[in-house]
Amino acid sequence: MAYERIELSRDAIAAQEEIARRLRAHFTAQGKTPLAMVDTYGCQQNESDSERLRGYLAEMGFGFTDDEFAADVIVINTCAVREHAEMRVLGNVGALNHTKKARPDQIIAICGCMVQQPHMAQKLKKSYPIVSLVFGPHELWRFPELLERYITRKKRVFAVDPSDGTITEGEPRVRDGKPKAWLSVMYGCNNFCSYCIVPYVRGRERSRRPETIVAEARSLVEQGYKDITLLGQNVNSYGKDLDCGTDFSDLLRMVNDIPGEFVLRFMTSHPKDATEKLFRTMAECEKCEHHLHLPVQAGNDRVLKEMNRQYTAQQYLDKIALARKYIPDLVLTTDIIVGFPGETNEEFEDTLRLVEQVEYDAMFTFIYSPREGTRAAALPDPLTRAEKQVNFDRLLALANRISAEKHAGYVGKTVEVLIDGESRDEANPLTGRTKNGRLVHLAGEKALIGSFVRVKITGSTTWALFGEIER
Ligand code: 5AD
Ligand code: SF4
Repeated sequence: MAYERIELSRDAIAAQEEIARRLRAHFTAQGKTPLAMVDTYGCQQNESDSERLRGYLAEMGFGFTDDEFAADVIVINTCAVREHAEMRVLGNVGALNHTKKARPDQIIAICGCMVQQPHMAQKLKKSYPIVSLVFGPHELWRFPELLERYITRKKRVFAVDPSDGTITEGEPRVRDGKPKAWLSVMYGCNNFCSYCIVPYVRGRERSRRPETIVAEARSLVEQGYKDITLLGQNVNSYGKDLDCGTDFSDLLRMVNDIPGEFVLRFMTSHPKDATEKLFRTMAECEKCEHHLHLPVQAGNDRVLKEMNRQYTAQQYLDKIALARKYIPDLVLTTDIIVGFPGETNEEFEDTLRLVEQVEYDAMFTFIYSPREGTRAAALPDPLTRAEKQVNFDRLLALANRISAEKHAGYVGKTVEVLIDGESRDEANPLTGRTKNGRLVHLAGEKALIGSFVRVKITGSTTWALFGEIER
């Protein structure tokens, strides 16, 4: 695939930071701290991108708020994977008419995957005049420049040109959610699964250099982060665009070898690229969680072929058997799409059979959502939404039964848990994750956030475990 890797120099980012400093003078001219609201939809990559937006905003002197009336600048970082997320964004942008009326100086920016689609950028241009700034994922690194352009010219800015994507390093970042940290290892996707918009909006696969990733991971560990998730649309093809001989397994081992106490997670893996070497590495790396999120999408070979997934159901099952051979306590999760165009009820039964066979610990299930410009959107789609919903409900019931059974199997066991946050449940105000990614609710002091504790599991539901800290 013809693709030129474009790495932007650190000078390019330094120039943006210079603009951010100029804007700081502009935004703080009235002598009070300006406020920004950053609202994020979609995947972890988007969460990570929002940390970059907040990094720039902090350099411009902004504090942060969740109150849209209090915000001088609102940035909505959008998702395009399914229509539902887009509808929510458009609904929320529409609702901002009130805040904009109350304070006409408010700057509303919409960025991310949704606006990288030409028809969506067009819609915002025509029907949402309150939006001042629209930029796609490829333009995020120059957010200060775009904002300055709007402020100086007072003309709406649309930066959504198509691009294969770039790599930028050294942007400021305000992280959210200590002790957990996202760490992007690559961007984009080359797979062109026929239903998926991601390759169109996020561009081609491009990997960050291993030494930069390891340096960032080391710095995170030194800052006290205890839960590091390596991110990419398809981490298993990490490094293929670099000529340095480092593949994802090598990278995992390099991060694992950083001294310190932390858990190492990663997502997402494509089954076609998950190798024996990866499973062996996961088993050997003591900090790596024994969890694999391996989206299967469907259990029928014809549907998988139409989806352009490049494996058969049997090949997928063989991979899982191999992974379980290396990692007997492997936690497996997956994504499944119900109602892909032309999927018959009989073909859907194959998905149910596969799920029964694999027994996933948790599943993320979606009804197919046509995405303009993808190959699947042009296929005939005879099943009605109601018929798809019936299948979806059957799958969800099966998924929930299996998850509940799996979770019940933990009761009575003692497991190691990283306490990572708080919940609103008064009886169990802390949340944590087992090393293999299961959610645990438990009682204890807030000061424990960021510590590893041994927890006796005392109860379970479909979605979570409950436990008591062993003293
Ligand atoms: N419709 C429904 N689900 C989709 N996904 C991706 N594209 C679509 C679509 N058009 C799901 C896949 C993917 C997850 C992130 O979202 O299951 O793994
Ligand atoms: Fe979309 Fe397939 Fe790429 Fe995942 S691997 S982002 S489903 S095209």
